[in-house]
Amino acid sequence: MHHSDRIALSDMKQRLLKYLICPQCTGEIRLSHIAREENGEIMEGKLICASCSHEVPISRGIPRFATLEHAGNEKAATARQFGWQWQHFTQGDELYSDQFLGWIAPVRPEFFRDKVVLEGGCGKGRHTQLAAHWGARDVIGVDLSDAVETAFAATREIENAHVIQADIYNLPFARIFDYAFSVGVLHHLPDPPAGFKSFAAKVKEGGHLSAWVYGAENNEWITRWIDPLRKGVTSRITPRALLQLSKLPAALLYLTTKLIYRPLNRFAKGAIAQHLFYNDYLNAIASFGWGEQHTIVFDHLVAPTSFYISREEFEEWWRQIGARDVVIGWHNKNSWRGFARVP
Ligand SMILES: C[S@@+](CC[C@H](N)C(=O)[O-])C[C@H]1O[C@@H](n2cnc3c(N)ncnc32)[C@H](O)[C@@H]1O
Ligand SMILES: [Zn+2]
Repeated sequence: MHHSDRIALSDMKQRLLKYLICPQCTGEIRLSHIAREENGEIMEGKLICASCSHEVPISRGIPRFATLEHAGNEKAATARQFGWQWQHFTQGDELYSDQFLGWIAPVRPEFFRDKVVLEGGCGKGRHTQLAAHWGARDVIGVDLSDAVETAFAATREIENAHVIQADIYNLPFARIFDYAFSVGVLHHLPDPPAGFKSFAAKVKEGGHLSAWVYGAENNEWITRWIDPLRKGVTSRITPRALLQLSKLPAALLYLTTKLIYRPLNRFAKGAIAQHLFYNDYLNAIASFGWGEQHTIVFDHLVAPTSFYISREEFEEWWRQIGARDVVIGWHNKNSWRGFARVP
């Protein structure tokens, strides 16, 4: 292809290309056309399948395998809300790496070294960034929503990090990944176990997989009292209105965690704190500042679809894919994380 000489310098898209296949026919994906380059990166152009000629536009540096117009109603509604969220809450936080390690334990930073990694539902790209810094050979963050714009901006200087817009149910990859992780995404899909299966199917034989989801256990107060509000009100109003409305519960959360949970967890080895309502989780987020706590509250209220998964259901997901050496962990006593080897 005569264009490849011109982009040899860029490497970013060049490196990404070899991982992609046609989502329609699994054919080889090639670069067909470059309309605009910036610092050697393809900003506007087109990818094309060598077998079936299916075309994939690249715009603002991001290959668009899916767009929200074509996603089903429920999926699109959820992705639209998160798209807004991650374009608004673009802040970074030094606590992200510890938080991320809590979600993917027992995985440690060294684990990423030289691995080809997939992130399902990368949001603003904070974990794609970390995976790249921890030495992944390449990491590809996938998201269905406009959050990819933020993720792209966060990773464009990082040569081993890539972002594509695609649907987790229809990923343009063969079974090539050494490791795939998905944090806080699967429970927002219309059919979580099906999304999990589709995602896990991209991990190569003997590779590893991590997933973190909301738990059903210990969250009855949410499913009972908060969910009706989320479904009926907060996921239906405009994100801008929710941004304002969510400041009230966020302020209560902020004051409670800073004035009660944090001090009590530091006092008498937390002997008293352990009796507090929802202590593990509230203590875990007590270190975050206002902006991050506001993001967390907004995040919980914005999604039209959220499932709360029981341990039994979660274990069944891993059984269904025939996972080996499965390690399931009860995170902050309100959520499940899993790690396993894919046979
Ligand atoms: C709660 S956010 C989590 C983002 C990121 N994992 C993090 O922890 O910062 C959920 C993300 O899943 C994405 N998402 C929802 N449905 C999706 C789908 N069908 N395919 C890919 N991503 C999807 C949303 O757009 C959103 O960015
Ligand atoms: Zn094709």
